[in-house]
Amino acid sequence: MTTSIRNITKHREQRYSYGLTLLREEMEKKYPMPKEEDVGKKVVLKGEGINLAFGGLQALMDINFELKEGELLAIIGPNGAGKTCLLNVVSGFYRAQEGEIYYRDRKITHMSSHGIAELGLCRTFQNIALYTGLTVIENLMAARHPHIKYNFLSGMLYFPWASDEEVRQRAICEDIVDFLEMDAVRNHVVGSLAYGLRKRTELGRALALEPRILLLDEPMAGMNRDEKEDMARFILDIYEFLKIPVVLIEHDMGVVMDVADRIMVFDFGKQIAEGTPDEITVNPKVISAYLGTEYAGV
Ligand SMILES: Nc1ncnc2c1ncn2[C@@H]1O[C@H](COP(=O)(O)OP(=O)(O)O)[C@@H](O)[C@H]1O
Ligand SMILES: [Mg+2]
Repeated sequence: MTTSIRNITKHREQRYSYGLTLLREEMEKKYPMPKEEDVGKKVVLKGEGINLAFGGLQALMDINFELKEGELLAIIGPNGAGKTCLLNVVSGFYRAQEGEIYYRDRKITHMSSHGIAELGLCRTFQNIALYTGLTVIENLMAARHPHIKYNFLSGMLYFPWASDEEVRQRAICEDIVDFLEMDAVRNHVVGSLAYGLRKRTELGRALALEPRILLLDEPMAGMNRDEKEDMARFILDIYEFLKIPVVLIEHDMGVVMDVADRIMVFDFGKQIAEGTPDEITVNPKVISAYLGTEYAGV
């Protein structure tokens, strides 16, 4: 295996004095950071008996999962295994025929995707979903919209506090841009950016939404090894600075081995294994699911 991504992250503190400070302050005003004793123990997201079918195709078969406070859970599996479907069910884009989803003891199975996002389950998409005609900063500002305290009157007339609010919101977005090392392209139109930077912008957009849980659908797909390591570093730092649990979907098993606390493996809509990275690497079912793919040499 290549260099450990966790080691790369440790050295990062020497390069940066701060990270996501403004965003974190903003988030702490609304809810407390998780308690140390809950980390790795308290369940924040749970799926029970999820079944999803499209006609005759069973995309998810009796899926059960738990995400705990402060945990980085990776979901891996070959193409078509049902990873994106699970994220779509959790975030309310698809309706499962059977099963329930709970977010911090609240049943969210029948909530709208909009309502679920407002609760703080923020996601990125496998196929990038950004305003391609807007700049990086504008995309982040658009994502801040639900958090901006304008009222109708101050929006129509000039009031000093309305512009203060705008300045503060912009500073939060600039903070995110700095964190993602995108300063040089902050005012570039997203459509003109290279693929890796668009993926990074999408991560920034999810951050601007103030996630309480981050759901990432193949944030490193189509990237080279260096870009993947950068992305993994950002994901680990987000987890460190904001203390939010992360669900990371990935097709490439190698990348998640270094970063995940726990891994769930899907194949043909079924959950075939679950465990720590060390347990997963030697699991015969996982090895056979990946035989014939690029990770045949597990
Ligand atoms: N909207 C849909 N309509 C029909 N079939 C779908 C739809 N979305 C996903 N599927 C099918 O469900 C299966 C799982 O897909 P998906 O969750 O996207 O896999 P992956 O693990 O690669 O993310 C695939 O066979 C896919 O073709
Ligand atoms: Mg997918």
